[in-house]
Amino acid sequence: MPSSMSVVISYAQSLDGRVATASGASRWISCPESLEYAHTLRRDNDAILVGIGTVLSDDPLLTCRLPNARSPQRIVLDSALRIPRESQIVRTASEVPTTVLFNRDCPSVDTTSVESLRSLGLEVAPISHNGKGLVLCAVLEQLSARGLRSVFVEGGPGVITAFLREDLVDEVHLVVAPVMIGTGIAAVGELGVTRLEQAPRFETVSVSRLGEDLLWLLRKRNVGR
Ligand SMILES: NC(=O)c1ccc[n+]([C@@H]2O[C@H](COP(=O)([O-])OP(=O)(O)OC[C@H]3O[C@@H](n4cnc5c(N)ncnc54)[C@H](OP(=O)(O)O)[C@@H]3O)[C@@H](O)[C@H]2O)c1
Repeated sequence: MPSSMSVVISYAQSLDGRVATASGASRWISCPESLEYAHTLRRDNDAILVGIGTVLSDDPLLTCRLPNARSPQRIVLDSALRIPRESQIVRTASEVPTTVLFNRDCPSVDTTSVESLRSLGLEVAPISHNGKGLVLCAVLEQLSARGLRSVFVEGGPGVITAFLREDLVDEVHLVVAPVMIGTGIAAVGELGVTRLEQAPRFETVSVSRLGEDLLWLLRKRNVGR
């Protein structure tokens, strides 16, 4: 990873570690204070990144709605360019810089689909794919080459899991809401951990309250500690 690029992840989970119900509903697990906190993370980072799963499920705007604050550049990982033309992100692409990264070898992506998105104001750029997803180091290199220094990965679980699995996360801002969902969508999926020594570990920076929720700020633990 480019050493100058900081990767921050944040998500709101239930007490039992779910970010959505089994049917994909996630609005809203967290309280208004936590939603406002997410906007401070949008304000304080150069870019905000989500996977296409979050766009298809939630149709987010991904802008910072705090007064007098700028919005981060929006980045969507979308291997096959499935992003809907009527999505909020596409409809506001001329107002907020937005990049969709796709699989450079995807057979279903042709010049016409790339050009039609570009004509709507999006930047559309090819990235290598490793068979499971877009290569995250290549994604971070692209962002770094544009002069961006920090990226806030706001979800969803597929992308968050991938960043954790690749050991690319510097900070976790974990919001835990006092609600039980039961069977649902887990915040973090398969990390390939079979021995505990392999598990990514973090150190606690602070624990605080956001309204009814708990905010647990964690930083990557240095190797050897
Ligand atoms: N509570 C919260 O804080 C929160 C936040 C966000 C989302 N959510 C919930 O999460 C659910 C969506 O989950 P999701 O996992 O589908 O969303 P996601 O992580 O936003 O999107 C996953 C998709 O991104 C694409 N992708 C491209 N490169 C990838 C890579 N290297 N690693 C992983 N994914 C890559 C893949 O689709 P392609 O192969 O087509 O590229 C993949 O299926 C929704 O129910 C949403 O409401 C909750």
